[in-house]
This record gives sequence, structure tokens and C-alpha cells, in this order.
Amino acid sequence: MRVVAGNDTVLQQFGAEATARRVEALYLTPDVAQQRETTLAELALRPGERVLDVGCGPGLLAESAAAAVGAAGAVCGVDLSPPMVALARRRCAHLPWVAFEVADAVALPGAAERFDAVTCTQVLEYVPDVERALDELRRVLRPGGRLALVDTDWESCVWASADIDRMRRMLAAWDSHCAHPQLPRVLGPMLARHGFRVEKVAAVAIVNAMDASNTYSEGMMAMIAEHAVRRESVEEFDARAWLDDLRDRISRGEAFFSLDRHLFLATRLP
Ligand SMILES: C[S@@+](CC[C@H](N)C(=O)[O-])C[C@H]1O[C@@H](n2cnc3c(N)ncnc32)[C@H](O)[C@@H]1O
Repeated sequence: MRVVAGNDTVLQQFGAEATARRVEALYLTPDVAQQRETTLAELALRPGERVLDVGCGPGLLAESAAAAVGAAGAVCGVDLSPPMVALARRRCAHLPWVAFEVADAVALPGAAERFDAVTCTQVLEYVPDVERALDELRRVLRPGGRLALVDTDWESCVWASADIDRMRRMLAAWDSHCAHPQLPRVLGPMLARHGFRVEKVAAVAIVNAMDASNTYSEGMMAMIAEHAVRRESVEEFDARAWLDDLRDRISRGEAFFSLDRHLFLATRLP
């Protein structure tokens, strides 16, 4: 569905299935593919390992993890959203050592200490009780097992725009789209309190400059505009003008967007 073209409205209603497909399209962009590559390279999965991907979304990371561990290993993905799990199952149907189920990060299914590695990328910032989720991630990891977390600090978002005050209003409105829009800055001490040793913290930047078509930021623009209007924190004409400006910049090859996500690698202490 196109958003804000011609006379249509910024405010579109998307069901859970349509939302899942939009997130899938966003996560297929080269920007997010690069993030998955970096995360898996740092995690250094080995053939035969058992991996859990919490908040697996459309199963893109699970699919890559499956290639790394091979048929002698196992990959399990869980997500709160049934349409996401359906997309993930479809994507990995040809990989019999991959399985998905609907579950909440704060109440993971199954026995303790059964995974060698756990990934949870772009999920914890949506979970109201992060501390409980960390307890669950620790419970299912074996002692010495590796955890990879990725979350965004939305305050790091920089976008070239004709109107800096309007841009600030849009990003302030977007802050309410998740429970913890600046989670990375507190994750290190939280991990330490929950029985992990933090091995590495690295920025995973997304930069879309000049020609920003088929990028993460292009995919995000409509979602941010819809959210701001739905929450009634920004007037529709304001959100439309913001979108038009960003789209003009893309069509002129003059876009600039930068956002920092942070990758935390940790080991489960005994
Ligand atoms: C931005 S997507 C990231 C998807 C995937 N991890 C990736 O990086 O490609 C966030 C995902 O987290 C899921 N999610 C949000 N809260 C959750 C929770 N409490 N438990 C499990 N999954 C959750 C959403 O349904 C969505 O699929």
C-alpha cells in the first residue's frame, strides 16, 4: 500500500499481517542485511551449535544462522506476532533444522540451558520489562553461551530536512513507538546485573546519503509519519510536508540520514 501519494492520507490502518510484510521489506534492505552480517560475524556460530533468535520477525537472521550451524545444528525462532512467525516459517521451510513458535521474550518456552547462542536484534526496546526478558535469555543459554543484542538509540537519528523544528517534532513523536527508545545506553550495566559478562559493545550505524532509495530510512519515513499522526502529536499537514521534503531530497539525490544501533556481545556467566 502506498502512503501519502496524491490525495491519500498519511494515516493508514495496517493490520498485523500488513505490518509484518512492511517490516520484512524494511529488513530486506542492504542496510539491515549488513547489520545481520555484522551480528553473525561477531557471534561466530560454529557448525552443530543450537541457536535461539528471540523476536525473530520474518526469519531473516534465523535463515542466515541456519546456514552457519548447518544441518547438524538447530535454530529456533520465537516472536510475539503470529504473522511474523508465519513469514519466518515460509522463509525457512526448506531448512528442517529450523523451527519457529509464537512466544513472548519474557516467558520463553522450553528447558533451561539448551542453547549455545541467543540473538535478540531490535526487539528488547519493544519489551516493557527488559529485566525479565534478560532473565529469560540467561535461563535458556548454557553457561558460557553467547548472547548478541542489537538496539537503537533513537536520539542518534539525524536527517537532513528543510525545517529542523518540524523534524524534531516528528522524531519526538516517534519516541513513543517503543517502550525504550534509548535502550543501548543502559544495556551494559543491566547485562552485568543479570549474570552476563559484556565482551564487546559496537556501534552499527546506518547511513543513507545522497541517493537513499531502497534504504532503511526510505522505508521508515511513512511509518514514522503514520505513527505521529495516529498518536495525534503531529498534525497531518505537518507530517505530509515532512514526508514530501524527505522524498524530494531522495529524488534529487540529496538525502542524508544517520542512525546508531548498538551491538552488545555478552557471555553467560555460570
Ligand atoms: C523490528 S522487528 C525485528 C525483527 C528481527 N529480530 C530482525 O532483526 O530482523 C521487532 C520484532 O520483535 C517482535 N517482538 C516485540 N515484542 C516482543 C516480545 N515481547 N516477545 C517476542 N517478540 C517480540 C515483534 O513482533 C517484531 O517481529
